[in-house]
Amino acid sequence: GAADLGLYRHYMQKEIFEQPRAIADTLEGVAAFTPALFGADAEAVFKDVKRLLFIACGTSYYAALTAKYWIEAIAGLPCDVEIASEYRYRTSVADPDTLVVTISQSGETADTLSALRHARDDLGMTKTLTVCNVATSAMVRESRLAYITRAGVEIGVASTKAFTTQLVSLYLLAMTLGKMRGRVTAEAEEDAIRRLRHIPTALGAVLALEPQVIDWAERFAPKQHALFLGRGLHYPIALEGALKLKEISYIHAEAYPAGELKHGPLALVDREMPVVTVAPNDKLLEKLKSNMAEVRARGGELYVFADGDSAIESADGMHVIRLPENYGDLSPVLHVVRLQLLAYHTALVRGTDVDKPRNLAKSVTVE
Ligand code: G6P
Repeated sequence: GAADLGLYRHYMQKEIFEQPRAIADTLEGVAAFTPALFGADAEAVFKDVKRLLFIACGTSYYAALTAKYWIEAIAGLPCDVEIASEYRYRTSVADPDTLVVTISQSGETADTLSALRHARDDLGMTKTLTVCNVATSAMVRESRLAYITRAGVEIGVASTKAFTTQLVSLYLLAMTLGKMRGRVTAEAEEDAIRRLRHIPTALGAVLALEPQVIDWAERFAPKQHALFLGRGLHYPIALEGALKLKEISYIHAEAYPAGELKHGPLALVDREMPVVTVAPNDKLLEKLKSNMAEVRARGGELYVFADGDSAIESADGMHVIRLPENYGDLSPVLHVVRLQLLAYHTALVRGTDVDKPRNLAKSVTVE
């Protein structure tokens, strides 16, 4: 059953390795980007949507941040992303043409549920969609539309497979809205479906990099602090990598968009500061490389998660692990898995309680 650890040492490790299956299940039956994927009246709800408002907490919030990059680029619709506990208490502007999207593994997080009710009942925003892992949850019941992720029961407090299944679901949303708006050609749709279907296989190859990540974890374990850098679509992935590390290893970790380095965090960089860089081979790579040179010039130790086809070489003070394939705009789904493994193995070396980190709960149903 779901609670059976099998050959794994922890639920978190098991859940990391379940991701190819979880994503395949989440995408099951998806043969085209049609509104019906999100509910019977989704077409009517989506039709006049002018903007999206994502609301979530924790790891689900980082899925929302990633979605913003996809939705704006693919569907051409403006997006706002809000932390649920902020949104529910601030005075914001109501807009009935906004699609309110809550994202939640549990569907029961008190702040997210209250933010949904606030948007709907106090502000009259009735176009609501939830991306959720529990079909019977309060958020699904209270939203007009839903996309159910099929991650299966997640037991580890630090979310892993829920996150990557949220990502693929949000990519479906971006493509569906883009297609409705005439921005996704039949050819692009076919290509995207093919790439989505190939993710479980590609992920298998990423998981096979575990021994290299274990090697890095040994070097990380004695550190007090770590900095994570990313740009564009991979900035939210850097945020998620830093969150994973702090949650389970208790190493202080902070993530920055690499272009912002010079406006503050560069002051922290010295020999004791490992700098994890998410470096896909995209149009920002050259800029990212100059950010990396700034770190090296200050003696910072770089740990670079690169793509197989990018010209970044290991050198003194620079460690590189390559992904087998460059996955284009779906690359965050693959890159984050290496960061999950790094956090997991660093926590193992430090001997922390990986599945039940101190002071944290799996589902925060009280404020
Ligand atoms: C808690 C969990 C996190 C999770 C967050 C949001 O803090 O420890 O792993 O990301 O709640 O939970 P949700 O169920 O709404 O995604």
